[in-house]
Amino acid sequence: MRDAQPKAIQLSDYRAPNYQVETTHLRFELFNDYTIVHSKLELVRHQADATSLHLDGQELELISIELDGQPLTAERYVLGEESMEIHGLGERHTLAIVTRIYPAKNTALEGLYRSGGMYCTQCEAEGFRRITYYPDRPDVMSVFTTEIIADAEQFPVLLSNGNPVSETVSDGKRHAVWLDPHKKPAYLFALVAGDLKVKEDRFTTMSGRDVVLKIFVEPQNIDKTDYAIDALQRSMRWDEEVYGREYDLDIFMIVAVDDFNMGAMENKGLNVFNSSCVLANPATATDAAYQRIESIVAHEYFHNWSGNRVTCRDWFQLSLKEGFTVFRDAGFSADMNSATVKRVEDAKIMRTVQFAEDGGPMAHPVQPDAYIEISNFYTVTIYEKGCEVVGMLHKILGAEKFRKGSDLYFARHDGQAVTINEFVSAMQDASGIDLTLFKRWYKQAGTPIVSATTKYDAEAKTLSLTLRQHTPDTPKQTNKLPVWIPVQLGLLDANGNDMAIQVEPAAAWTPESQVLHFKEAEQTFVFSGVTTEPVVSLFRDFSAPVKVQFDQTPTDLLFLLKHDSDGFNRWDAGQRLMLHWIEQAAATSEFSLAPTEREALASLLADTELDAAMVAYLLTLPSEAYISEFSDVVDPLRIHTSREAVCQAIAVDLSAEFKDCYLRLCSSDEYAPIPAQMTARALKNLALSYWARVTDEGLEQAQQQFASADNMTDQMAALIVMVNSGNEAVAAPALTSFYQQWQTDPLVVNQWLSAQAGSSAMGTVEHVKYLLAHPAFDWRNPNKVRSVISIFANQSLVNFHREDGAGYALLADAVIRLNSSNPQIASRLLTPLTKWQRLVPTLSQLMKAELQRIMHQGNLSKDVYEVVSKSLG
Ligand code: ARG
Ligand code: ZN
Repeated sequence: MRDAQPKAIQLSDYRAPNYQVETTHLRFELFNDYTIVHSKLELVRHQADATSLHLDGQELELISIELDGQPLTAERYVLGEESMEIHGLGERHTLAIVTRIYPAKNTALEGLYRSGGMYCTQCEAEGFRRITYYPDRPDVMSVFTTEIIADAEQFPVLLSNGNPVSETVSDGKRHAVWLDPHKKPAYLFALVAGDLKVKEDRFTTMSGRDVVLKIFVEPQNIDKTDYAIDALQRSMRWDEEVYGREYDLDIFMIVAVDDFNMGAMENKGLNVFNSSCVLANPATATDAAYQRIESIVAHEYFHNWSGNRVTCRDWFQLSLKEGFTVFRDAGFSADMNSATVKRVEDAKIMRTVQFAEDGGPMAHPVQPDAYIEISNFYTVTIYEKGCEVVGMLHKILGAEKFRKGSDLYFARHDGQAVTINEFVSAMQDASGIDLTLFKRWYKQAGTPIVSATTKYDAEAKTLSLTLRQHTPDTPKQTNKLPVWIPVQLGLLDANGNDMAIQVEPAAAWTPESQVLHFKEAEQTFVFSGVTTEPVVSLFRDFSAPVKVQFDQTPTDLLFLLKHDSDGFNRWDAGQRLMLHWIEQAAATSEFSLAPTEREALASLLADTELDAAMVAYLLTLPSEAYISEFSDVVDPLRIHTSREAVCQAIAVDLSAEFKDCYLRLCSSDEYAPIPAQMTARALKNLALSYWARVTDEGLEQAQQQFASADNMTDQMAALIVMVNSGNEAVAAPALTSFYQQWQTDPLVVNQWLSAQAGSSAMGTVEHVKYLLAHPAFDWRNPNKVRSVISIFANQSLVNFHREDGAGYALLADAVIRLNSSNPQIASRLLTPLTKWQRLVPTLSQLMKAELQRIMHQGNLSKDVYEVVSKSLG
């Protein structure tokens, strides 16, 4: 907590550390009320002439400090509020420090804390400094030995990174020793102690080494570990096959923890997971949860190479590991399921959440140049845009050269802490393609806007395509330069087939990937041999994270929706068409489908060749958040009303088809979280939601499905249909019976909370307050806070944007309440309030007033201060 204004950290101030820590020896004594941490560091000088050492420390009680076996006298070191500076040092020293910490009082969930009955850690980015004084920066890498001493009965399981060395019990105390042979920064340190059950399996690596896999959970969750083990084994195999990466320890462990600020953490050999991102069984987890688990297990595992073996020099390089690792896990998910569906899901996140961030007060480049609190920079820009930037490299280089580049990167930098620049250099050196221009993607914030116009010359049989690009100003960054945009495209003939492409300048075209390289503010490309006027399909596969302005008629969009050979662009054309419909509904306050449009939707529904999940996405209207990003001034009520009108029209016009589709996809097969079944359930439940919206028969079918479902996907989908029906007599009893059935399972109860808080029909301010007072809610648990408050503010948009500002006040109250107990969560809740400038004036003022109220609290954490002060400009 602070009084003075916190200072920003600048990338340009980076200096290499004065000392490296060759070895780090830690001894933890866990007592009920406190923990004693003994640390012994072997220091070696790293900068010629350096004589001082900077250590970080937060909320620590210093008990003793010794240098080379002698107590360090007071004049040799200076204690700051969050630091210790030691002076008069030579070439090599042994530094021994003892501190006392209070894990049970740690509500920030950074450093060592208690969750339920267990101890666990979260050290990224800067949590290790809450454990002991240490140079807590990723370019200081050390070999760690960890001793843990705790009550033998209370804590049968004591874990840390690396391989187990020994475990003994004497005088009622258990004493475990772990050694991690791989040098690592402190942010990858982990410790776990608890009364945990373990699920065990094995994996044989590509070179024939045997690895033990273990998932540790609280005893009641042992029946929810099968899927994570399976996902882990598939991830390990995939990383060998696709990236040539082999695992490097004898044991790989995952621990599930209920109280966790984020999704999961890639600590070396000991990943710690939010229980919602690892635990599943058919009765309690939805298909969506299974897919989230599959991708997060893979993500954390893939970090073992992209993050741990090669790590970041400083936190400005965060996307080096996160963007690349998201790209890797996206490739895995695409291979396990449908690549097109995965691309659609990722583009939706980019267009709603990331474009909004890029257009708001927190806009920052993939490689930021300043931050106040690094926790605020675990963003969709660093992760998802960072992934898209790596994806563009993949498109530009092609799969083969990209793999050469990643091989070179891992070989060159194994064991090092490096920069994004070094990643791009490896890609450049391995491919022979000059990537100087490409690097602008890392330095410039904001979403480029690309406008496209075409001119067809029937006589010359040419089509000219003129592209213009412009990246808007963002806070503290103006006058941006053109970036290198790979435009994957196709030209459709009258039958909807792809024409062969010949383009001038030829050097701008890569035939293998069908990519046009667009690198200047404005460029015209001329396609020749175009015998009839084509329908143009631009930015296939979402080939660049840009906003596109390209006027195509509803007729052309319908044509693309039916015929495009690129699945992503079929979906995109459909969404653009639906945006037209929604605009039309807003302008005329009525809407009906044209016969050709109705026909197109009906034939999609009946198309059994297409992936069923893809059909479900093709028939889903853009969300309110998605529509907002396509509006200059956001009027949430108008968006809601017009979207509802279109939704209603589709449901009415096609209700018989939805019913048929639903009945066709009902199956008596035993539930399995496999693609063939998951995609069918996605379409079946979408059909149910339309059908139930407009017929009693459909709503009764939902009640029936709710009562008889043997899996959470179907049970929850039916519950949501009932909740959204706005029919109290249907929703209330279902919610009560669901709660009675599941009240002892917190992960299921969280879904029950979200189903209500996120519903336009039910998630009113009053009802959200009722949920916050419900025994199922707990302010200390981040999953509960997200399930109610974030879901309300991001999904129940008509209620959040209530005209008297009560929704904003509710969110601001939550931020103020969490500011001191858990600053990271408080800061993350703020996101919806950062968008005030784009709202209609009355709402804008009300929202701004809530930001000002937060600002006037005083005693704001760095996390909250940074977001609020930047939002107020
Ligand atoms: N490196 C983790 C992941 O993306 C994220 C952990 C960040 N945690 C935090 N408290 N900032 O896999
Ligand atoms: Zn990550």
